[in-house]
Parts: sequence; C-alpha cells; structure tokens
Amino acid sequence: MAEFKTVLSDYSSWFNQQIPAFFPVPEGMEKRAVEAMHYSLAGGGKRLRPFLMTCAAKLFGIEQETVLPAAMSLECLHTYSLIHDDLPAMDNDDLRRGRPTCHKYYDEATAILAGDGLLTYAFEILSCRLNAAATVKTELVGLLAEAAGAFKGMVAGQMLDLTPADNLNTLAAEQLINRIEEMKTGCLIRYACEAGAVLGGADAARRQALITYSRKIGTAFQIADDILDIEGSPELMGKTLGKDQQQNKLTFINLYGLDAAKQMAGRLINEAKQSLQIFGTAAETLSSLADFIIRRSV
Ligand code: IPE
Ligand code: IPE
Ligand code: MG
Ligand code: MG
Ligand code: MG
Repeated sequence: MAEFKTVLSDYSSWFNQQIPAFFPVPEGMEKRAVEAMHYSLAGGGKRLRPFLMTCAAKLFGIEQETVLPAAMSLECLHTYSLIHDDLPAMDNDDLRRGRPTCHKYYDEATAILAGDGLLTYAFEILSCRLNAAATVKTELVGLLAEAAGAFKGMVAGQMLDLTPADNLNTLAAEQLINRIEEMKTGCLIRYACEAGAVLGGADAARRQALITYSRKIGTAFQIADDILDIEGSPELMGKTLGKDQQQNKLTFINLYGLDAAKQMAGRLINEAKQSLQIFGTAAETLSSLADFIIRRSV
C-alpha cells in the first residue's frame, strides 16, 4: 500500500475538487455569509473525518462517491466547530489552516453566521443530497445531531473545555479531561466511523468494532493535538501553537506530563488497531490511519 500520507492527500485533493458542486456561486447582498462558509471550508484541512467515513463504508463495499454527501456534511459541521472555536470569546485564534481565521478575514458577526450556516447546511446536505434509504438518512441525522450537540456531544465538550479546572484533585481532573477529549473531539470521530457502518448496513459486531476503534483514536487524536500544541511546527499545523499553556487548558499533558501522554496515546492506538481484527486485511487503511494520528506533524 502507498504511504498513508499519500493516500490521505490523494483523497483530500479529490474531496476538495468536489466542494464547488455543493457551493453554488453566492448571490445577493447576503452572499458574504456563504463566502465566509466557503473560505473556511475550502481553505485546507486534512479531511480526516470524511476519509475515516469513506474507509469505514468501504469495508462494506460502498463507493466513495456514494459516501461523499455524508462526508461533505461532516466536514461542514467540523469546519463550523473550528470557526466558533477560534472566536475571541472562545480560543481567540488568528490563524487556522494556514490562513487568517474566519473572524479575522471577515469579522466576528460574519464568522458566527458562517458557523451557523455550515452547521445548518450539514443537515441539509445529509437529508437532501445523500442517495440512501430514508431510514438510513434518518438514523444519520439523529447520530450527527447527537455527536455535535450540547447533551453529550461536541458542544458539551467545548463547554467543559471553557470551564476553569483549578482546584480539582487528580481523580476529578482525570475524569474531567477524559470527558472533554471524548466529547469535544471524540464524538465527531465516532460519528465518522459509525456513519460508515450505517451506510454499509453493518451487522452489530462490525458496527461495534468500528465504534470501539473510533473511541480509541478519538481520544488519541486530541492527545496528539495537545502534544503538537507544545512540540509541533506552527507552519505545518497552520495555527498558533502554545495556546493550551497560555490559556491554562486542562490537557492530559499538564496532568501527567508529555512522556506519559505520549505513552497513553500509543496505547490507545494499539487498542484501536486490535479492535479492527474482525475485518482482517480489509481494514489496513484504517490501521494505518490510526498510526498516522500519533505520528502526524499536521
Ligand atoms: C482540529 O482538527 C481540531 C481538533 C479537534 C483537535 P483537525 O486537526 O482535524 O483540523 P483540520 O480539519 O485538519 O484543519
Ligand atoms: C477544538 O480543540 C475542538 C473542537 C471542537 C473544534 P482545540 O481548541 O484544541 O483545537 P485547535 O487546537 O484550536 O485546532
Ligand atoms: Mg478549543
Ligand atoms: Mg482551539
Ligand atoms: Mg488544540
């Protein structure tokens, strides 16, 4: 198999070529919101979540063209989470995907609306553009809403991420950081895999195997992001680093130290790969993807 980085970059080039088909040229005085949506969506990014969904669905013989609307929908939703994450009231970042953040390039109000627009458009694409049975679409809409939402999804994780974590004992801090990483990042990664299983009509055992895999890589992905916030290259990452320390964020690293966090991520990745056994060699790409999560520099 070609090196994983090449496989992923081939997919992301293909994915980027598909974006115009989902974005008619905006018109009218209101077009600024759509332009800002497009600016943030099209401006780079690894496309890891769409690729994950595509690989999961491929295990069941589903073509990447068929998966595309669901994959695009997820990337829209993820991009909205980044736009809002960068806002001055949240992480207050100037750089994203190697370019000025949406609120820096446009303005704060436009960035808020661009985020709202992408969140809403994610569900429009899923329900109107995906060619799948109505039962499949309904299930995906419910799963995506839950994964992105405020009860036990991404918004819940982002809320906890903003909550000061001073004066916690180690056990309470450990429980809190696990919940934060699992919800703010893990939930959308879990959805990517589970959606692949739903699109493929997976049986219960295979669906569960993908869920187990996704939960392990989801936490490892955020630990890696936190490690890269300390050790990464700002040029490669395309965002300002050192922010977690500066903003006193609770991470596995400030709880256990860098080495222990790396070990923890490594362990999670091994466990993730083990959970793919049921698929045999068909899951080779997902296995390489797991390794990439902790070896990446972007
Ligand atoms: C960044 O996600 C936000 C986190 C959940 C850590 P990615 O690292 O996948 O960002 P892009 O999509 O490649 O820009
Ligand atoms: C963001 O986590 C997770 C989201 C839900 C967007 P971070 O705040 O660590 O992500 P970066 O480092 O800004 O990409
Ligand atoms: Mg954040
Ligand atoms: Mg951030
Ligand atoms: Mg980060």
